[in-house]
Amino acid sequence: MYICVCNAISERQVQDAIAQGASDLGDLQAQLGVATCCGHCAETATEYLPGGRYAADVGPAAAGLIGQVEVTVLSRTAVRRVA
Ligand code: FES
Repeated sequence: MYICVCNAISERQVQDAIAQGASDLGDLQAQLGVATCCGHCAETATEYLPGGRYAADVGPAAAGLIGQVEVTVLSRTAVRRVA
């Protein structure tokens, strides 16, 4: 999903920038160019910053998942013909 249509900046790009240290709209503007044209995306982009509505979804670093891997192993089922 695009956050900034003018500059084709995606939600993922905003989340990654914040996970890497962007802490205010100025950082997002400088790093990504978000909200540097019409400005309609500024409020939405700000919601991804710490304290914002979408702040919890800022990637694995914020979730504390870096360095952890979850593995699901599916069991194998043998199918045999019964006479
Ligand atoms: S939508 Fe982001 S500057 Fe226009």
